[in-house]
Amino acid sequence: MEKYVIHGGKPLVGEVTISGAKNAVLAILSATILADGPCIIENIPNISDVAISIQILRDLGARVKVINKSTLEIDASHIRITEVPYDQAKLMRASYYFLGALLGKFNRAKVAMPGGCNLGVRPIDQHLKGFKSLNASYTLDYGMIDISADQLTGSNICFDIVSVGATINVMLAAVKADGLTIIENAAKEPHVVDVANFLNSMGANIMGAGTDVIKIKGVQSLHGVEYSVIPDQIEAGTYMVAAAATKGDVLVKNIIPKHLESITAKLQKIGLEVTEYDDSVRVKYIGEFNRTNIKTRPHPGFPTDMQPQIAVLLSLAEGTSIITEGVFGDGRFKYVDELSRMGADISVDGHVAIIEGIGRFTGAQVKAVDLRAGAAMIIAALSAEDMTEIENICYIERGYSEIEVKLRALGADIKKIMIPEKILQTAL
Ligand code: EPZ
Repeated sequence: MEKYVIHGGKPLVGEVTISGAKNAVLAILSATILADGPCIIENIPNISDVAISIQILRDLGARVKVINKSTLEIDASHIRITEVPYDQAKLMRASYYFLGALLGKFNRAKVAMPGGCNLGVRPIDQHLKGFKSLNASYTLDYGMIDISADQLTGSNICFDIVSVGATINVMLAAVKADGLTIIENAAKEPHVVDVANFLNSMGANIMGAGTDVIKIKGVQSLHGVEYSVIPDQIEAGTYMVAAAATKGDVLVKNIIPKHLESITAKLQKIGLEVTEYDDSVRVKYIGEFNRTNIKTRPHPGFPTDMQPQIAVLLSLAEGTSIITEGVFGDGRFKYVDELSRMGADISVDGHVAIIEGIGRFTGAQVKAVDLRAGAAMIIAALSAEDMTEIENICYIERGYSEIEVKLRALGADIKKIMIPEKILQTAL
């Protein structure tokens, strides 16, 4: 097992380049199954969830060729296996996209219930509601969803709750269905639009992605294509908050400013100078932080995936700030206990966290409890004057490409070290 050792108190200064979006690329890699020829996917982030997706594709029989460290050629045109076993699917939440892609291609899919970050209850009832509307039927045996259809047919689907995963999954299943599918109450995240753009570049006919009504006209076949994944707005937001919390001055490059609007607006309200350029944004500390209230909402609201990180910054603001979690339950506040070990004064009541300004964090031994919680621990450690050790960094590496390299280039004192097995055994 590995951990990060961070000596904080140094402002982050310089430039950082953002990698491809995790929550777009995982869906796009699954979607290559739908193509009748090879796809070349560029701007792929170097994260462990991508490695899991590649392994699943190879186990299904796809040929995956590494062109360079961020480009893959994937040819899934000869696969005939339509099952993703539990020991693979349990490793990440996004394994559910293999349901939609395999069903869309073969009218058949058998995938274990997904794993992923423990953010409380994370059902997939809306995914299954969408598939049933397309004339598929499924059984759930021993944690495996076995779904099939004689012929998928277009339908009107209105989700009971805005769901990124269900919106994308129904798009994957509907692109080759007979007739027109209309998805209402659709998610509008940038990565939903990116997946729709990828499918359309393969020959699909999807209209309205990015709005709450998406129309999909089924087509006979989809061809291989070259495609570049959008930059990761959550990775970008994480570095923006890290620049702020360390009282630094950082230019965040390879971003789409419009995707960061809600994050930029909040940082400006908290008191940072944020300057937007064509494909970059600069975050500069200019004085004390203002207390601020935040409600997380589906896009274009403030993203839930930035909630732990902004809570760290608000802990450094004078006064009381309130965060209301509007997407996940209280499971998204699991980081609070670990942050309290560094001096945070946060009380959680259901979906609401009340954050008292503490002036500064103190170093401690902590652990990452999920992907974004881990990012928050790093930001708190970078702002603390002394040393912090962060364990369970495997969570962080699920979604952040070379984070310790990128932070060191900004002046951070961060090292990744192996915890000797012997110490681990005595600790367990
Ligand atoms: C995706 O998760 C992302 N994961 C999450 O990112 C992100 O936090 C989330 O979207 C919201 O933006 C991937 O894309 C792999 P949802 P997903 O379906 O699809 C409920 C990260 O940190 N719901 O939009 O699971 C659900 O419980 C990760 O990068 C149902 O009730 O999120 C939640 O309360 C964490 N039934 C809400 O909807 C369903 O069938 C939104 O979930 C599906 C979801």
